[in-house]
Amino acid sequence: MTSEIDVIHWRTEEAGEIYVLTLDVSGQGANVLSSAVLQEFDRILSRIESRPLRGLIIRSAKPNGFIVGADVYEFQKISDSARAAELARAGQIVFNRLAKLPFPSVALIHGNCLGGGLELALACSYRIAREDDGTRLGLPEVRLGIHPGFAGSVRLPPLIGDLAALDMMLTGRTVSARQARAMGLVDETVPERHLLHAAHALLARQARVRRASWWKRAPGWSMLRKPVVRLLERQLRKKANPDHYPAPYKALELWRRDASQEEEALSLGELLVGRTSRNLVNIFLLGEELKRNGRREPHNVAHVHVVGAGVMGADIAIWAAFKGFRVSLQDQQPEVLARAVKKAYGFYQKKLKKPVAVQEAMDRLMPDLNGNGLHRADLVIEAIVEKADAKRDLFRSIESIVRPDALLATNTSSIPLEILGEALKDPSRLVGLHFFNPVAQMQLVEIVRGQKTGESAMERARAFTVAIERLPLDVKSSPGFLVNRVLMPYLIEAMILVQEGVRIEDIDQAATHFGMPMGPVLLADTVGLDICLSVAEMLAGPLGIDVPERLREMVARGDLGRKSGKGFYTYNKAGRPRRRVAKGQSDTPITERLILRMLNEAVACLREGVISDADGVDAGMVYGTGFAPYLGGPLRYAEALGETGIASSLKRLAQEYGPRFEPDQAWGRSGLLTRRAIMRA
Ligand code: NAI
Repeated sequence: MTSEIDVIHWRTEEAGEIYVLTLDVSGQGANVLSSAVLQEFDRILSRIESRPLRGLIIRSAKPNGFIVGADVYEFQKISDSARAAELARAGQIVFNRLAKLPFPSVALIHGNCLGGGLELALACSYRIAREDDGTRLGLPEVRLGIHPGFAGSVRLPPLIGDLAALDMMLTGRTVSARQARAMGLVDETVPERHLLHAAHALLARQARVRRASWWKRAPGWSMLRKPVVRLLERQLRKKANPDHYPAPYKALELWRRDASQEEEALSLGELLVGRTSRNLVNIFLLGEELKRNGRREPHNVAHVHVVGAGVMGADIAIWAAFKGFRVSLQDQQPEVLARAVKKAYGFYQKKLKKPVAVQEAMDRLMPDLNGNGLHRADLVIEAIVEKADAKRDLFRSIESIVRPDALLATNTSSIPLEILGEALKDPSRLVGLHFFNPVAQMQLVEIVRGQKTGESAMERARAFTVAIERLPLDVKSSPGFLVNRVLMPYLIEAMILVQEGVRIEDIDQAATHFGMPMGPVLLADTVGLDICLSVAEMLAGPLGIDVPERLREMVARGDLGRKSGKGFYTYNKAGRPRRRVAKGQSDTPITERLILRMLNEAVACLREGVISDADGVDAGMVYGTGFAPYLGGPLRYAEALGETGIASSLKRLAQEYGPRFEPDQAWGRSGLLTRRAIMRA
């Protein structure tokens, strides 16, 4: 029987005094809790709360999951903290109504059950999760610079215990169905076909409502709270600077005070309108935007053929097979292929664990010494040595073998696509797919458009990138594309500082204090000084960069960084650098030199049209290099600093240190920095 309540996001049905509510947010691929969805939910609850029902079942109609969280786009529109707190309060009121129903309720969870979605489930009497690898539960709010706001921070500790609850809230880590069952977050895990039946059975037997055992709640005893907070805060500080990322500290503070729902709402309100959250939300939305760009057209790729099984080719092939593609991996050296297969096995074992899944992934990845896979390939990715002639010869022979509709891609980091395209009869099918090292960790892929690259090749390349769960960013074929070009002046400035006698530890510390994931000296060592040198030399001509003499000498000596055991740092057997304690001198002059060079190059890329808008630069640098996410990317940071201020600082530095600091002509040019893909609040 269908109910009479007029709603568009929820489906309501009733059988045997059990009310079943199915969320199917209209016009969206995943369920998000927008204000409209919550208002409808409230209306439904108010209608049924006085009825003589025996239970309520809440589930999702979306194949990809239960609920992914609150509507992030709504966050962006709010600019004052009182309004933001109001939003949280509104959600709390609805969930309290759910928690106080006179009959029991059960959430049927499959796929993603995150943030506000988990908070909804927490307000139910019971939770049942589908037992498979796709089910993930968590409170990832800290990743957006906030903490739970729909009473999650109040409801979670009594259910799973204080330390487990804090761990989930402070790290944003998600758990599987099995883990959720073990920690008491869900009551049962069952296969898909038993979900509804299990819910009815739970309601029928009026099972006991779960509570954490006393010893799991012991850390919350009043005399223990302070020392626990001190301990956790010490751990937190190792991972996140409270000035940059206040949210986990605020969540901890709420717990210390055993805070009420109202205090949770007020604290969330402040965070939501703060700089960090605004920037993190923006970066998240930019990532979504990049994914959307890759979903417009199908990729039509089932079989990928990768040529070159070195550092990059092997990783690309391993990753694509991991993500479900059939992959053949070709190299002229059999031992290189053997190494790649061994690496794949280790990687799949670590990631997939189950022997069947590991075997399936291995079956998808075929070592292919003779290039037999080329005949069947829908996409060929070239990742051989960085030599234009070798690549051209290869593309010439590839074109004569592959099907006419196969897409051709190169992973080159420096050779213009126009030069490689000369070898092809049809250069419009050649595109750059520029991955970053290590492929499994770096989310960004630059989709390089040569002058002759066709639109269809770009579309397919983007779509393939999204299909392997990476973020595609369009860039023009020009030296260094976006990411390497912006990064290089920063790395070179660090090397100049070394030459001036500044200690490497102090340079790296200045950068990490600023918010970089790793200092530039350690980064150069990690990437490999030979690779840095080749990128620097490639950019030297077009960008007028002076390659530091010290870098050449080190590479000539064979000091290549971490991989050779010695670079700027020396490394122990485990690959860890031996570091002296930083002297703790003032970071400011170092940071200014490092960061301003980066900003100057970033704005030059925008002016030259290497990338079409400021959002692209920001997304590229955050997802491609980890540029301080709390600042929202280099150009958002530049906007916050003010263009005129930057230009005058650069002028001052140019007088002191030389023309490499000369401000780019783009500073102050109206509209360049505000040309953005995403509407701003
Ligand atoms: P690599 O030197 O580790 O691997 C190249 C492999 O290609 C070698 O195993 C070699 O045997 C094989 N090869 C050479 N000619 C071949 C041919 N004609 N047929 C079949 N196999 C052939 O090089 P790496 O570092 O993996 O770089 C590959 C490409 O990726 C280059 O274009 C490089 O610019 C680019 N790239 C490298 C990054 C890095 O961090 N290493 C990052 C992004 C792009």
